[in-house]
Amino acid sequence: MRAEATGNFVRIVEVGARDGLQNEKTIIAASAKIALIDRLTATGLRTIEATSFVSPKWVPQLADAAEVFAGITRREGVSYPVLVPNEQGYERARAVGASEVAVFTAASEAFNRKNINASIDESIARFEPVIARAKMDGVKVRGYVSTVLGCPYQGEVPLADVVRVAKRLHALGCYEISLGDTIGVGTPGKAQAMLQAVAGEVPVEALAVHFHDTYGQALANILACLEAGVRVIDSAVSGTGGCPYAKGATGNVASEDVVYMLHGMGMTTGIDLDKLVETGAWLAAQLHKDTASRVTRARMAG
Ligand code: HMG
Ligand code: MG
Repeated sequence: MRAEATGNFVRIVEVGARDGLQNEKTIIAASAKIALIDRLTATGLRTIEATSFVSPKWVPQLADAAEVFAGITRREGVSYPVLVPNEQGYERARAVGASEVAVFTAASEAFNRKNINASIDESIARFEPVIARAKMDGVKVRGYVSTVLGCPYQGEVPLADVVRVAKRLHALGCYEISLGDTIGVGTPGKAQAMLQAVAGEVPVEALAVHFHDTYGQALANILACLEAGVRVIDSAVSGTGGCPYAKGATGNVASEDVVYMLHGMGMTTGIDLDKLVETGAWLAAQLHKDTASRVTRARMAG
């Protein structure tokens, strides 16, 4: 707690079981997803995004969301948010006892259309009843803004659009807004300027950063955003995933690499890095691929 008060504590939002697995070609069994989340719980993570209650036609990898969520062992003090795009998703999530959900939209119209078949305004209109019901049910709502540093269709995304959408989600009642560099094109100066622009309208304590590592800039971008005051970072164990709507886009920055960097800087996360590395290596084996985490690669070689 003391570390949190002094600003040295960073909360990692582990998104591998959702953002990672939603984009992997290999679909692993529900039992393996449950084992993954239970292993992540044992590392000391406080927030573990578990799955998505989206259309199984759009994301077949997570069609087993209800089975997975019902199968995990939830630990007191750990949050297990799930993505919901609409009321149908909210109802499915609540039916298995989800107590935190995440809604998602983008700063770019073109990306939103491809991702959820809706304009930004339409997507927000779909969340409004979700957020209203969540308030009544005592369910926490996190909000995502995608394409904050570039869009695969539109290219440049004006900062004003990022700020407007983030501010709207916060005003609607999202307790935290995660700013997503969906295609991993950002660089540190731009990432910091983007964060500072949003922090002008939404308290920085309510912001998180979410970097995909396509161009290898994610750790540098995170450092730039830490310097600007952010203390919540999304990452995926083993750096799994990609983006179906962005050619060549890779997974999120690897959680192991972020935790290694933070601990090396004297910051605290409450996470056992050794257990996280073991989990990352285990997941890579499940997916029959090499880990994308440099730390896990180094530790496994040694
Ligand atoms: P649509 O086709 O426009 O929706 O999809 P619809 O309302 O017309 O419904 C079509 C069918 O889907 C119907 O079934 C509905 O019942 C069903 P049918 O009558 O054809 O049998 N349906 C659902 N089924 C289960 N659960 C639901 C649900 N909703 C409708 N919740 C929709 C609109 C939003 C549903 C669709 O586009 C969708 O599911 N998209 C999800 C895309 C997605 O998951 N993308 C990845 C997550 S975002 C992300 O990764 C970015 C992030 O990581 C941050 C970053 O990196 O920037 C968060
Ligand atoms: Mg993402």
